[in-house]
Amino acid sequence: MNTGILVTGGAGFIGSNFVLHWILAGKGRVVNVDALTYASNLGNLASIEGDPDHVFVHGNICDAELMARTLAEHRPRAIVHFAAESHVDRSIMGPDAFLKTNIDGTFTLLQAARAYVATLTEEEREAFRFVHVSTDEVYGTLGPGDPAFSETTPYAPNSPYAASKAASDFLGRAWFHTYKLPVLITNCSNNYGPYQFPEKLIPLIITHALTGKPLPIYGDGLQIRDWLFVTDHCKAIVEVLEKGVVGETYNIGGNNQRSNLEVVKTICSLLDELMPESPYTPHAQLITYVKDRPGHDRRYAIDATKIGRELGWKPEESFETGMRKTIQWYLSNAEWIESVTGAAYQEWVTKNYTDRKQKAEG
Ligand code: NAD
Ligand code: TYD
Repeated sequence: MNTGILVTGGAGFIGSNFVLHWILAGKGRVVNVDALTYASNLGNLASIEGDPDHVFVHGNICDAELMARTLAEHRPRAIVHFAAESHVDRSIMGPDAFLKTNIDGTFTLLQAARAYVATLTEEEREAFRFVHVSTDEVYGTLGPGDPAFSETTPYAPNSPYAASKAASDFLGRAWFHTYKLPVLITNCSNNYGPYQFPEKLIPLIITHALTGKPLPIYGDGLQIRDWLFVTDHCKAIVEVLEKGVVGETYNIGGNNQRSNLEVVKTICSLLDELMPESPYTPHAQLITYVKDRPGHDRRYAIDATKIGRELGWKPEESFETGMRKTIQWYLSNAEWIESVTGAAYQEWVTKNYTDRKQKAEG
C-alpha cells in the first residue's frame, strides 16, 4: 500500500475541487477515476496537468474488472467516492442512469474495495478508509419550523436522485456492518463555487444573467436550501478521511439557509455591482417564474454539530464571501463557461425549460 488515495468522479464539480485542494495542499498522490460524463470537465484540472501526483484513469465505476485492476495497481490507502449522477431534474426525466451509477456503481466499488482490502497487511487494513460522499437530500423535506437534519434523522428520499443516493448510503452502511469495510459516510448540503456545471441553480443563474437570458425560478421560489462553499466541503471530507470514526456518518452544512429567490436576488445585486456597464442591469428584471419541479422538496437544512464537535471542522466562508468569490470566478472564466455550454448543454436547457415556460404561461 502506498500513501496515495483513489478518488472517483474527480473530473466533476466537487471531485475536481477536491483533487485540486488535495494536490495544492501537498497531501500526496491521487488516482482519479472518472467516466467523463456530460457533467465532467478535464479542463477543471488544467492547473495540475503534468503533475506526477495526479494520475487520471478514464473509466466507469460499474466496471468491476477495471476497478479491481486500478486498486491492485495503485494500492491506495483510501477511496473517496464522489462519482454519481447528481442532478435532480435529470433524475426525474431519466432515472435509469442514476440507478446504474449511484447504486450499481457504488455496489461494484464496495465489492472491489473489499477484495482489495483482503490483500493488505493487518496494519494497512487498519489504516484503510472508504469515504462515501452523499447528500442531505436522503433525509427528505422539512417544514418551516422543523429542526435541521441530524445524523439520526430517518431517511425519506423524495426524488429518484435522492432515492439512488439513499440506496448507496445503505450499501456503504451494510458493507461496514457485515464485512467490516471501513466506510465513513458524509451527507452534505447544497454546494456552490468554481467549476460547477451550469445545470445547477447558482451557475445557471450567473451564466443566464451574463447573457441576458431569463432567470427561471421554479414555483414560488420560496424553497429553502442550506448553501456551502465547495472548498469548505472538500476540507470537511479531508477531516472525515483523516480523523473520522469508521462506520460513522457526518453531516456537513454551511448554516446558510436561503430561499431560492433570495439566492437569485443576491446574484443579481452582486452582478449589478460588479458589472454596472452591463446592458442587463438591473439583472433582477430577468427573473421569470416557471412551472415547479414535480415532488419539489420544500426545505433542506443541516445540523453540522457533530463534525464540528468531534472533528473540529467549521465552514470558513460565509454565504456573502463565498458568493462573491464564485461570481468573480465565473466572470474571470468566460472560456470555461463557453466550453461547457455547447450544443449538448443547449439541448438540455431546451428540454428542461421550454415545456416549463409554456406550462407556467398556460
Ligand atoms: P457532478 O455531477 O458535477 O460530477 C460527477 C462526476 O462523476 C462527473 O465527473 C462524472 O463524469 C463522474 N461520473 C458519473 N458517473 C460515473 C461513473 N459511472 N463512473 C465514473 N465516473 C462517473 O457531481 P458533484 O456535484 O460534483 O457531486 C459529487 C458527489 O457529491 C455526488 O456523489 C453527489 O451526490 C454529492 N453531493 C453533491 C452536492 C452538490 O451540491 N453538488 C451536495 C452534496 C453531495
Ligand atoms: P439545484 O441546484 O438543482 O439543486 P437541488 O435540487 O439538488 O437542491 O436546485 C436548487 C434549488 O433551485 C431547488 O429548489 C430547485 C431550484 N431551481 C430553480 O428554481 N430553477 C432552476 O432553473 C434550477 C436548476 C433549480
